[in-house]
Amino acid sequence: SNNIIVAIDGYSSCGKSTLAKALAKKLHYIYVDSGAMYRAVALYFLRNNIDMSDHAQIEEALKNIHLNFHSRDYETHITLNDEEVSEEIRQMPVSEKVSEVAALKEVRREMVKQQQRMGKSKNIVMDGRDIGTAVFPHASLKLFMTADPSVRAQRRYDEIHLKNPEVTLEDIFENIAHRDYQDTTRAESPLVRAEDAVILDNTNLTPEQQLQFALERIEALK
Ligand code: C5P
Repeated sequence: SNNIIVAIDGYSSCGKSTLAKALAKKLHYIYVDSGAMYRAVALYFLRNNIDMSDHAQIEEALKNIHLNFHSRDYETHITLNDEEVSEEIRQMPVSEKVSEVAALKEVRREMVKQQQRMGKSKNIVMDGRDIGTAVFPHASLKLFMTADPSVRAQRRYDEIHLKNPEVTLEDIFENIAHRDYQDTTRAESPLVRAEDAVILDNTNLTPEQQLQFALERIEALK
């Protein structure tokens, strides 16, 4: 098929979803936040006390998890078994659990399968950790985003502070560092730059500059 797939990978809180959303909106592509899927699975695991060392329990849980996106406005709206969980998956309990859950090979296999299905025939922008390496190794364009860790923590803090005044900048910094460590060192499709991915360090770039950077590269594909 000749649909366009833009894969955006990178470290935690690098602005991947901000760029992915802006790009999808501008080009009228579908936007898929793959991290939201792992977060929703983590929420289910938390609520149901799934034992992560028990493979049968993991498989059973995955059979009982049904995820759906409703991306009517390019924001992430995700349901877990028909319950809207878009807010809850951003809270600290899920952020603290998600990287462990995402390291499970059964979980990855199932999520990757669903993600590949979404990119079958439509133009799509998907962000995550393994989109250019495992989900769409033949993506039309691959971006790998990085930014200074303290800049990343500050941005995330500014984003959630009003709704979560109890969370400190330090909590966020530590969570980001923890997830980066987990995500880059896990056995199953770790976070790594695909050889053909373009690096985008946005420490000193505005969202508008990042969008221009990506648009120019998409334009160059044509
Ligand atoms: O993108 P976001 O930060 O919301 O992702 C949450 C977590 O989900 C990541 O820290 C990572 O552990 C996991 N993830 C992943 N593969 C993806 C997307 C997210 O392992 N494609």
